[in-house]
Amino acid sequence: MRSPRREAVRAHRNGAPPVPEPARAARSEPMTQLPDVDELTLEQRVRLLSGGDFWHTRPVPEHGVSAVTLTDGPHGIRAQSSTSERFDLSHNEPATCFPTAVTLASSWDEELVEEVGRALGTEARALGVTVALGPGMNIKRHPLGGRNFEYLSEDPLVSGRMAAAMVRGIQSRGVGACLKHFAVNNQESHRFVVDAVVDERTLRELYLAGFEHALTARPWAVMAAYNRLDGVHCTDNPWLLSTVLRDQWGFDGVVVSDWGAVEDRAAAVRAGTDLEMPGTAGESDREVLGAVRSGRLEREHVTASARRVLELVARAPGGEQDRFPAERHHALARRAAAEGTVLLTNDGTLPLSRQHTVALIGAFAESPRYQGNGSSLVTPTRLDTALEELRSRGVTLHYARGYEPGDSGRNPALIAEAVEAARQADVAVVLAGLPPTHETEGVDRQELGLPAQHDDLVNAVCAVNPRTVVALSNGGPVAMPWVDRPAAILECYLGGQAGGAALVDVLYGDAEPAGRLAESFPVAVSDVAANPFFPGQPHQVEHREGLFVGYRHHTTSGVRPLFPFGHGLGYTTFAWGEATVDRQRLGAGESVTVSLEVTNTGDRAGSEVVQVYVHDRTGVVLRPRRELRGFAKVRLDPGRSTTVGVELGPRAFAYYDVERAEWTVPRGTFDIEVARSGAEVVHTLPVEVTEGAHTSPEPPTTPPVALDDAAFRRRLGGPVPTPRAVRPFSRESTVGEISSTVLGGLFARVLRRAMPVGEDVLGEGAATGMLDRAVAEMPLRGLVRLSGGRLRGEVVDLLVDALNGGRVSTGMRALRTAAEAFGSRIAGAVPLRRQTRKSPEDTH
Ligand code: BGC
Repeated sequence: MRSPRREAVRAHRNGAPPVPEPARAARSEPMTQLPDVDELTLEQRVRLLSGGDFWHTRPVPEHGVSAVTLTDGPHGIRAQSSTSERFDLSHNEPATCFPTAVTLASSWDEELVEEVGRALGTEARALGVTVALGPGMNIKRHPLGGRNFEYLSEDPLVSGRMAAAMVRGIQSRGVGACLKHFAVNNQESHRFVVDAVVDERTLRELYLAGFEHALTARPWAVMAAYNRLDGVHCTDNPWLLSTVLRDQWGFDGVVVSDWGAVEDRAAAVRAGTDLEMPGTAGESDREVLGAVRSGRLEREHVTASARRVLELVARAPGGEQDRFPAERHHALARRAAAEGTVLLTNDGTLPLSRQHTVALIGAFAESPRYQGNGSSLVTPTRLDTALEELRSRGVTLHYARGYEPGDSGRNPALIAEAVEAARQADVAVVLAGLPPTHETEGVDRQELGLPAQHDDLVNAVCAVNPRTVVALSNGGPVAMPWVDRPAAILECYLGGQAGGAALVDVLYGDAEPAGRLAESFPVAVSDVAANPFFPGQPHQVEHREGLFVGYRHHTTSGVRPLFPFGHGLGYTTFAWGEATVDRQRLGAGESVTVSLEVTNTGDRAGSEVVQVYVHDRTGVVLRPRRELRGFAKVRLDPGRSTTVGVELGPRAFAYYDVERAEWTVPRGTFDIEVARSGAEVVHTLPVEVTEGAHTSPEPPTTPPVALDDAAFRRRLGGPVPTPRAVRPFSRESTVGEISSTVLGGLFARVLRRAMPVGEDVLGEGAATGMLDRAVAEMPLRGLVRLSGGRLRGEVVDLLVDALNGGRVSTGMRALRTAAEAFGSRIAGAVPLRRQTRKSPEDTH
């Protein structure tokens, strides 16, 4: 199959990148009058293209251009309070820690997410931040993705709509949002160097579609991801950043690099990465100026990027910084946590009666798991716990810890204590989940299961108290071998700083657990189509499962999930009337609206999510059995009804035809499925597309998962790329890779020793583990970028040369320079055994 994208990529590799169009005018009114880019010298323009430090752009005082602040993040503003010279997780200004993205998306409630966005925008302003680095919206390709807690959904429609709502909210306060990580950054393993190999149809329909949708909210910025896409670094990728993002989708904001992602600054400018972060103390300027002077980079590219950065700076809010209403935002965080809580099962035990005595079991009741580890970490303004909240309500309580909060080890004594508490109470509420070390940026999860101690605890408590409610705190799907035993299971996800109180609200029915899963819970990882290819090899991950991610796989291959996508119960009941469509026959460019009446037939207020899926029966191309194409959330008082209308536009029926390079609607019959979840269809309504494509170069019989190379090649439209070899070493080599040599090992230790561990904010070495992993997986060029100018590229080149067999003494000199650059020492970094055997000068 001919693929225009692959041809563009090849052209790029052959040195013929397309010249981007001149930047369009900014869409929102600038706050400050700044000079026109033409008034700036080339050097001044170049200065705008990289940061001044970790969190600020660079000023051009000669022209009155000030620096602006960009900072994380997606569920709370992490304004670092120590220094901007380096990354520091443990010193931040207090800010509201809202529920993380997984929880917010589970609300399926755009109004709520927009409201949270508004609060984030208010706090960003109060903390002097111009761009909040979020929302994160990569597709949850695999349940073990280490950053799934920070992402919205496995489905691009949910992801795109929730992200758009967040952007609208943040930007309504006059600060910017930044969609991240563009694109296909769907795993943490080897994220700095891995090449994601994905066919274009899958890209367009799954991995890019959410971003495309979110652009309708006009974000000020988009962050280019660390990884490569089909052989080209995302930051250097003209197809991704210029052809798709700007030319096809019309994005006119700033593309910022993920922190330290840039490999070749000149190539990145040419591709459309306007702003490199963090700052490199002039290293990038030298590269860009050198490239312009040698003719490798056209001035127009520099000017276009500088203009966009200037427009961003001009939009920065000026004036007094107001304090933010912390109590009001805390209340919103509490409401949002309940709205995102998913009631997975319930035999009627929930909501609890206030008369019952309660055995509260699980250390998360006093040390809550409420956010994930990594750059998104927020220092909360306060922290509610379920224990305090229950006590404050005067509930008769027996509390038992059940496990150590930061520990995965077994402890029978704690279980025995919990069983004793459970025996004495009318109901038992077990708080279980994943310890903080299990969910960390930079590291994928190792297994789907909870720690054995948590599983044992649930089993033991269920054995003595049939009225056991399990409340889970985790940022992604977990296995539940005990699923049929509890009376009710609540998936609370990571509920933010008010999650503890929100849980109690939900337990007593003061708030409804109003969530629906925005991801599938598989029974086992073997039920995930991507599993054999996840996380791939260090230098390459193949997306051989194509579109068959999450429920798209389950529904196509008849694999039963533990809990399906879209699933969630509530505390009331709803009747769904007959569904109708406003037309049964439509042309390829036309829309159809599905309507039905929904009635709250229970005795308390509640909400319902009407989900509309499409089943393509035309047989023109291979498609997932069912794809979500629309949804609506309604809230109704008891006895009230409303008519829900969901419009499906032409895209709802279209697939991306790679050869024609366009979205194409096939001709024939489609079933519109009106459903409560991806596995519970209530009404099926056939519609006929009368004028559409009836042939396609891609046979509909192709197996969903391209297990053999020939099938994958066909899907890719070209050969499966050969992963980069580990040797010879280069700037692209990771610290872990070079540590297999004596010199490289020494370098790694010197470096690790220089890294600030900071306070271990999440306990049990979570921050330390993340840092170790980050150092091991960091490419040498990334170190140069992240060193803030302390480590020069030429020094790394000398080291690489020695590692590849050049002079060891040169390598040692480079090592010394690097050690000095990082304020570290070589002495003591050489392990004793090696020191006594031979000097590192003797070998590489
Ligand atoms: C993360 C981004 C984050 C940035 C700044 C990177 O490591 O991938 O999501 O915004 O750091 O903290």
